[in-house]
Amino acid sequence: MFRLLRKTVVLFVFFATPIMAGGEIVEPTLTLENGDKRLSFSRSDLLKRSDLKKIEIKEDPSYPGRVMIYQAVPVAALFAQTSIAPDAVIEFKCSDGFAATISQSRILNSDPKRSVAYLAIESVGESWPSVKPNGPSAGPFYLIWSHPELSSIAQEEWPFQLAGFAVKGSLQAMYPAIFPAQGAPSNIQRGFKSFSRNCFPCHTMNKSGPSDVGPDLNVPSSVTEYFTPGALRTLIRNPQDLRYFPRSRMSAFPPSILPDAELEDLIAYLGYMSKLKRP
Ligand code: HEC
Repeated sequence: MFRLLRKTVVLFVFFATPIMAGGEIVEPTLTLENGDKRLSFSRSDLLKRSDLKKIEIKEDPSYPGRVMIYQAVPVAALFAQTSIAPDAVIEFKCSDGFAATISQSRILNSDPKRSVAYLAIESVGESWPSVKPNGPSAGPFYLIWSHPELSSIAQEEWPFQLAGFAVKGSLQAMYPAIFPAQGAPSNIQRGFKSFSRNCFPCHTMNKSGPSDVGPDLNVPSSVTEYFTPGALRTLIRNPQDLRYFPRSRMSAFPPSILPDAELEDLIAYLGYMSKLKRP
């Protein structure tokens, strides 16, 4: 009985102070895997870096209607410690299972004429608001962009509760089953790009992809086969307009994020892939 009590006390102390000064206990750490190499960045080390700066975000997809100020380091600087093949894809993983690939040219860009990715770090004393009511915040690590409009950064490119990055092979080598045929018309190619940016972070295509947050969009049945065209457009624009589902994890894609022409290209790609099912 005494032992049990002691254990409870120890556990309580552990949970009550998940982060202790100096970071010996469960300090949040971001990992960067590249082949056999694995780098870890602890929160306290990140907060001590000389390239840490304050970044103001006016339109933050995780915190609509608020101006946020983050302490952040440029993502390119974290990758500077490792060399990456030019066609390699970078994948990020979040602690809730959300995972996505992102092109190197976007995430490693440091040219101020385009969007620049930063890793925002939530410090112990300055915690951020909840992303959803009563839920956790976007921290401890959150990928943010300065001037997201310059490279049309999609809301799915702002992963929160980021756990780490992994350098992978090329998208074509990793996930050949999501690609249209080489000679496919240009609207299909554009639709494919839109799919890989906006939908692939959560959905697989032909059971291929890093994330299974949502159902496969092509197998065994394509969404273009069991949704009427109108219902599919409504669902993509805002899933809640098609069916009431408060716990839905799918984001809405209003025209500001997915212009009408891009939505048509995306649906054309989904229809095209229904003829290219791979088991
Ligand atoms: C943040 C994750 C996420 C993103 C991004 C996302 N979805 Fe979804 N989607 C889901 C989840 C989860 C479901 C399952 C139902 C739900 O939770 O709303 C779903 C359901 C669907 C369905 C209904 C499937 C069915 O059989 O009921 C379709 C169609 C769909 N998504 C298409 C898309 C398309 C097209 C895109 C890109 C424009 C996209 N989704 C982007 C998470 C996502």
